[in-house]
Amino acid sequence: MSGAQGSMTGLLPGAGPVHPVAAGIEEATPADAMLTVEGLVLGYGTGATFVPAVQDVSFQVRRGETAALLGPSGCGKSTILKAVAGFMRPAAGRVLVGGKPVVKPGPDRAVVFQEFDQLFPWRTVLDNIAYPLRVTGRSRREAAEQAGHWLGIMRLEHAASRFPHQLSGGMKQRVAIARALALEPAVLLMDEPFGALDPQTRLRLQLEFIELAQRTGATALFVTHSIAEAVLVGSDIVILDGVPSGIRAVVDARAVLDPRSDAALRVGQEVSAVMGHDGGHAHGE
Ligand SMILES: Nc1ncnc2c1ncn2[C@@H]1O[C@H](COP(=O)(O)OP(=O)(O)OP(=O)(O)O)[C@@H](O)[C@H]1O
Ligand SMILES: [Mg+2]
Repeated sequence: MSGAQGSMTGLLPGAGPVHPVAAGIEEATPADAMLTVEGLVLGYGTGATFVPAVQDVSFQVRRGETAALLGPSGCGKSTILKAVAGFMRPAAGRVLVGGKPVVKPGPDRAVVFQEFDQLFPWRTVLDNIAYPLRVTGRSRREAAEQAGHWLGIMRLEHAASRFPHQLSGGMKQRVAIARALALEPAVLLMDEPFGALDPQTRLRLQLEFIELAQRTGATALFVTHSIAEAVLVGSDIVILDGVPSGIRAVVDARAVLDPRSDAALRVGQEVSAVMGHDGGHAHGE
């Protein structure tokens, strides 16, 4: 994290020359871009029934950083995430993870979904985290040890033998995040993971996520429709709009380390201005 000022950097092309950058902030180059989205066109249906949802979207996420994907409901955020996860095939363009094209889902990309009910209801909390580790080749003992380690990080040791229906929404999301992080994916894909939580729990989990991401060096794509959340968790904020959606701007938010800082206010106002909002509402979400 540099101490650079938050600044709008304009569109980040997926490849080729980059746009001029304000405040001396360097753009991702192919070498340090863990995730590259290039000329992505996505939609639903086939042939004459094809309805585009995302039109020509390109951006990059540097290794160890988090890009926040921000835009109003229905603008195609989850659709982009699904394409990066390999759940849907682009109509045009491509996604690269670590320089390799994504053609199907894989353990290099772990997903935390928008819904709370994404855990295996018949498995305990510990098993929910251990099971994908066993499927991807760890021994039973190794998987249980790793799962216990991540439960500790999420402060959920006491809930190890509970089942998902015995957890609060926030606890379920922490298990889902632990499960994703335990796989040590190259890229973590988070789809509004804290969207349905009360503001206090949400802020606590946002701060926990930032701390964890820094500690583990995770690269993440974090979908949100909250400006305040994007400003806090994002290194860059990729702003989408339109139907089908395209990128309106990419705002650098690496200077924001604290939600109550001047940097957070400044970047929030900048994002609000891009989105055509009154800056005063930026932190009220
Ligand atoms: N399975 C689907 N079949 C057909 N259309 C879909 C499907 N999923 C999404 N869409 C359409 O694609 C567009 C983008 O949806 P998407 O779920 O990506 O939006 P979003 O930005 O994630 O919204 P939200 O913030 O509400 O989660 C919407 O118009 C939606 O109706
Ligand atoms: Mg969505």
